[in-house]
Amino acid sequence: MQTHAKAVVFRGDGSTVRVEDITVEPPGPNEVMLKIAACGVCHSDLSVTNGTLPLPPPIVLGHESAGVVAQVGDGVTDLKVGDHVITSFVAACGRCRYCSTGRPQLCDIGSTAVAALPGGKVRTRDAQGQPLNVMAACGVMAEYATLHETSVVKIVDTVPLDRCALIGCGVMTGWGAVCNTARVEPGSICVVFGAGGVGLNAIQGCVNAGATMIVAVDTMAAKLVMAKDFGATHTLDASKADNLVKELRKLTGGGADYAFECVGHGDIVAQAYGCLRKGGTAVVVGVAPPANMTSVRTSSLVFEEKTLKGSYYGSTRPRVDFPRLVGLYQAGRLKLDELITRRYRIDEAPQAFDDLAQGRNARGVIVFD
Ligand SMILES: NC(=O)c1ccc[n+]([C@@H]2O[C@H](COP(=O)([O-])OP(=O)(O)OC[C@H]3O[C@@H](n4cnc5c(N)ncnc54)[C@H](O)[C@@H]3O)[C@@H](O)[C@H]2O)c1
Ligand SMILES: [Zn+2]
Ligand SMILES: [Zn+2]
Repeated sequence: MQTHAKAVVFRGDGSTVRVEDITVEPPGPNEVMLKIAACGVCHSDLSVTNGTLPLPPPIVLGHESAGVVAQVGDGVTDLKVGDHVITSFVAACGRCRYCSTGRPQLCDIGSTAVAALPGGKVRTRDAQGQPLNVMAACGVMAEYATLHETSVVKIVDTVPLDRCALIGCGVMTGWGAVCNTARVEPGSICVVFGAGGVGLNAIQGCVNAGATMIVAVDTMAAKLVMAKDFGATHTLDASKADNLVKELRKLTGGGADYAFECVGHGDIVAQAYGCLRKGGTAVVVGVAPPANMTSVRTSSLVFEEKTLKGSYYGSTRPRVDFPRLVGLYQAGRLKLDELITRRYRIDEAPQAFDDLAQGRNARGVIVFD
């Protein structure tokens, strides 16, 4: 049965986002329709609206959600109506070279399904019946969404879904960059650039990994206060530093073992690399505009054995990591409640995007009835 839903749509018409009435088609083979409970507003959603992350409009935004299975298509064997799920923004096929070697975040199918379901399928239409793209094979900033089963991970039904939604991107990305991509060792010295929805979770990841010094760097004083609440041992206001790299090297007693760039600019990538000690690793998490470049001193890669690497989706294996993060929350070892600064009704989506752009929230979350 097709369903009517309100959704947050980017049309590329000058407005940031619009809330529209859309139609969601029933699930085809190996697809499910979800009743979305909550969807976080991530900087990547904002980046679609300003061209940093160029995806073709008109497009339903949203890639950080949790909900309940409402309809099940033919051939779906491990999901049933009523199951609680977290959505994955990479629809990992489970069969390709990358999936088969434990790197589903790089899935060949998933990395092409960026504005439609795998195979280019469209299940979402606007009020005029015209097809709407969906961000990252999700488009879950909507009351309902039909997704491929490979984008959906079942979780327990005992944890509030607005908290679980955050695991779908910000938590997984930040925590995973530290614990999966970098595999930070106990006793490490870490620097996290950007204490937003992703960076705060990188800080939580550093705590989880046993880092003994965690320096948060941001340009907003309020974010640095949040960073302390999430486990940063030191903070540095980048807007007040004369020579940030020099100050970080001094503070860390000669440089960091690990630095995480959670903002999205080549200049900050260079800072992250620059503040490393010998043998250190800088991990790039922030998504810069396509033309943005960075530069590092080439010889330092050799003589100092430094590493510069990227982290997509916290190098997640969603079927292992999502339930694991839910478990850490249940055990009191992962902060999710504190991440949600403000909840919005879907009609307030433009406000939620403005609040994100102005840096007012740790995370803003759109909640549905
Ligand atoms: N790698 C991935 O898979 C992945 C997944 C999700 C998001 N992202 C990207 O991660 C980045 C962060 O996303 P978010 O949702 O946390 O954004 P956010 O807006 O919540 O946080 C960004 C933070 O960076 C701070 N900042 C801005 N300029 C700075 C500077 N010069 N130095 C230090 N801090 C600065 C801001 O004040 C803010 O606190 C974005 O680029 C987003 O697209 C990447
Ligand atoms: Zn995101
Ligand atoms: Zn694959």
